[in-house]
Amino acid sequence: MHEKLQKMAEEAASRLLEINNLQDLEELRIKYLGKKGALTQVLRGMADLPAEERPRVGRLANEVKKRIEDAITARADELKERQKEERLQREHIDVTLPGDRQNLGHIHPLSQIRREIEDIFLGLGYQVVEGPEVESDYYNFQALNFPKGHPARDMQDTFLINDDLLLRTHTSPVQVRTFEKTAPSVPVKIIAPGKVYRRDDDATHSPMFTQVEGFAVDKRITFADLKGTLAAFARKMFSPETSVRFRPSYFPFTEPSAEVDISCVICSGKGCRVCSHTGWLEILGAGMIHPRVLEVSGYDAEQVSGFAFGMGVERIAMLKYGINDLRLFFDNDMRFLTQF
Ligand code: DAH
Repeated sequence: MHEKLQKMAEEAASRLLEINNLQDLEELRIKYLGKKGALTQVLRGMADLPAEERPRVGRLANEVKKRIEDAITARADELKERQKEERLQREHIDVTLPGDRQNLGHIHPLSQIRREIEDIFLGLGYQVVEGPEVESDYYNFQALNFPKGHPARDMQDTFLINDDLLLRTHTSPVQVRTFEKTAPSVPVKIIAPGKVYRRDDDATHSPMFTQVEGFAVDKRITFADLKGTLAAFARKMFSPETSVRFRPSYFPFTEPSAEVDISCVICSGKGCRVCSHTGWLEILGAGMIHPRVLEVSGYDAEQVSGFAFGMGVERIAMLKYGINDLRLFFDNDMRFLTQF
């Protein structure tokens, strides 16, 4: 038995040297030290030994067990260390290689302009409110003084959903939606940015575009307040030298109504191709809110008055950046977008 154990220890030691991976090592451990392993087998045989030999053989068996265990642990450490080094070799990184460029996204030019407009009016004490893009005929037209069959509806080629619902053609319905909540209290100073839809598609029109509506209601609001507000806006948005011009116009929901021009941002009013040699660029529609619009939404038009204006965000962005085709904003061509 003594010899058997010695031989086992030697055999295990020499096999160990041939082992090159942790899996084989585990197999070897089971072979010698496992429940049905060689050493366990030997120890079982101890029952047949004469009693006086058992302690000596037992001690030797324990010694052999410990030697094999230690050798296995040492070999396992070696193999783990070797694996680590191989892995380091494999995953070696050349820190002198140039890095992968990460593309940073940024805010879309239209959103930038929209935020600029919002910021200017927030600075003037306005609040930002949004309305639904699927709108009813009532808010988009009737309450704004375009009855059914009114010829002014033709100016806004409409995507209809059914008899009552449509895609809003402008942001003006937010006026009525707001007044229904605020009336009869004043003052009200709101801007309402958002998407609008019309059946239009060319270099200066897109079926979807962005407007910002603005309106103020209070006691004794006058046309002078409208002029002052829009002049302040134009100077902040374009340049401090910008002048503003009002031309008479017509909208069913304002009276009087005006179209508002600014001095040309390219030639400062001298005349160039962008302003068709007039020196002026149209940027928005505006007017004093029609008494009927105030009345349908709960205000007493004898007590309060208001002004309103509406502008196209794409048009302002085109003027500000000198872009000649509105569809560029929606093509998502990186060569265009990364310029902003
Ligand atoms: N809603 C008009 C449009 O889309 C623009 C407009 C004109 C808005 C005059 C106004 C306004 O608030 O007073 O064509």
